[in-house]
Amino acid sequence: MSTAAADPSGPTSPAHDSAFLRAARGQDVPHTPVWFMRQAGRSLPEYLRVREGVAMLDACMDPEMVVEITMQPVRRYGVDAAIFFSDIVLPLKAVGVDLDIVPGVGPVVAEPVRTLADVERIPELTPEHVGFITEAVRGLVGELGSTPLIGFAGAPFTVASYLVEGGPSKEHAKTKAMMFGAPEVWDALMRKIGRMAASYLEVQVAAGASAVQLFDSWAGALTPADYAEHVAPHSTAVLERAGALGVPRIHFGVGTANLLDLMGEAGADVVGVDWRTPLERAIPLVGDRAVQGNLDPTLVFAPTDVMTARAAQVIEAGRAARGHIFNLGHGVIPATDPDQLARLTEFVQGYPLEPR
Ligand code: CP3
Repeated sequence: MSTAAADPSGPTSPAHDSAFLRAARGQDVPHTPVWFMRQAGRSLPEYLRVREGVAMLDACMDPEMVVEITMQPVRRYGVDAAIFFSDIVLPLKAVGVDLDIVPGVGPVVAEPVRTLADVERIPELTPEHVGFITEAVRGLVGELGSTPLIGFAGAPFTVASYLVEGGPSKEHAKTKAMMFGAPEVWDALMRKIGRMAASYLEVQVAAGASAVQLFDSWAGALTPADYAEHVAPHSTAVLERAGALGVPRIHFGVGTANLLDLMGEAGADVVGVDWRTPLERAIPLVGDRAVQGNLDPTLVFAPTDVMTARAAQVIEAGRAARGHIFNLGHGVIPATDPDQLARLTEFVQGYPLEPR
């Protein structure tokens, strides 16, 4: 894949001087930029209308629908960034792995991966597999103008867990059994998913995405030693290839208080922090990097003044970092009232930042 195209976060991009990209680079900002993980989705009535009768993966493979759904929260909230509407298992689906996203459950894989032969059967991703992604990203960048578009991929560990377990898992027991007991199978699988994630990010950036986020949602299931030995090298490889594209890289996981230093070292420009770890504690761990987060997603169910008081604490704490992008500590909960997210967006964007 050619990386000769201009950096979509670079000086010639209309999004270059956006608050989001400036914060990701550690530059001064006019206001704290804000977006929400899973800002597009079931909390929005306009999303539910568009998705009526359309399966999740079919929606993800329809460029017009992807553009519409990605734009919905941007129009409604005026957030500082859009996130490409898709799913972490989409590249697997695109190369032909038999899987589905089951409503209320999540990704389910028909034939879980257990052996080296299973790993070898998964095709390598090429841009031709995901032409619909290129088309959707190009369409979006045109509509978004100066609002940056975040591309994303699932990190090798989190995607491996769905492949090995066959579906969502609390304990990740089969995944870890492979990691501990069949290191050559594990290594081959992680390398393959890592190449797939990097190629997928390259496609999105080549089409105009101006930042990328690597979602390692389930990395918090690992000890620091196991993360460092069996997982971090593979995430590092993905982030290295993404780094060659010039756009800021966000690295996020859930329950990662013990891993924040290692996740930063894996090559992130911005470390995403879930709501369990106060930013005061997270910031010294991530080194000279920006942070993203981390309001408890349930606080939007509290009275508005309670929510905004806690948001103010997050903003104040974030000022000690090299840069701060406001977000929830994990995805928007489907029962969230969109009006409350609108108030939160307005509050964060209007919060005065005295010179540091
Ligand atoms: O953030 C966004 O707005 C972009 C869209 C996005 C989706 N999934 C849409 C989606 C992103 C970035 C993801 C990533 C993703 N998918 C992750 C990492 C982020 C995280 O939440 O930790 C993970 C672990 C998955 C796997 C997955 N896909 C889960 C756990 C689910 C939810 C299952 C359910 O129904 O509760 C999905 C399905 C999914 N992905 C939905 C959406 C909007 C819901 C399906 C629907 O709307 O029909």
